[in-house]
Amino acid sequence: MDAPEIVPVHVSFIMDGNGRWARARGKDRIYGHFEGVESVRAVLEASVEWGIKYVSFFAFSEENWGRPQDEVMGLMDLMMRSMKNEVNSFLSNGIRFRVLGNLARLSPELREEIKHMEDITSSGDKMTMIIFMSYSGQWDLRQAALKMEEEGGKDIGDYLVTAGIPDPDLLIRTSGEKRISNFLLWQLAYTEFVFTDTLWPDFRKEEYLNALREYASRDRRFGKVK
Ligand code: IPE
Ligand code: IPE
Ligand code: MG
Repeated sequence: MDAPEIVPVHVSFIMDGNGRWARARGKDRIYGHFEGVESVRAVLEASVEWGIKYVSFFAFSEENWGRPQDEVMGLMDLMMRSMKNEVNSFLSNGIRFRVLGNLARLSPELREEIKHMEDITSSGDKMTMIIFMSYSGQWDLRQAALKMEEEGGKDIGDYLVTAGIPDPDLLIRTSGEKRISNFLLWQLAYTEFVFTDTLWPDFRKEEYLNALREYASRDRRFGKVK
């Protein structure tokens, strides 16, 4: 498969449609989340191949805590298992792994595993993979404002959980929904958006390449005249 002609620095995903994908097959929603992990793997592999520096995934929102308990527990379980499964591939591909969000709401076991994963992959310099977990844009702005006031800082960007990470160049949302659902609010100021009807478990390399081609055709002006 060809490589994209222009490669963004940071591509971010709102992975949506796992539940509908499972329902269409007469299966439990969690089955869709399992298959969704395969899409994450495919996207990561392509991103390494194409030299993308930052890839981020909205995996679980603050609002998603309000889902039925068995789905929430299933997702936490899946997160734990996926981290353990992928550790070797992260290390051999030079991937730095990070998890951002309101992590105080996660179980101590999960938090511990996340810290362990972040520590052992911290020297990965080919790419940074970010999972947004228990995250919402409004929560992020709120916690940043409080911290900034406490420390007497000036730039809110320095206090958001994404401090030091370049804003996304491209945001891809699957499943046909055309909204942000409380994802990055500050950071998407000049991001290009691609919406696709494809459900997340069906989103693989070819579709990713299409989105990058669409991105390459955009004219980013950042408010200036060209
Ligand atoms: C996205 O798929 C994954 C999460 C939000 C955790 P959904 O679970 O939202 O799937 P749909 O939108 O109900 O199909
Ligand atoms: C957005 O998907 C959150 C994640 C992908 C983690 P949702 O399925 O929760 O969003 P809504 O409810 O359709 O807006
Ligand atoms: Mg959804």
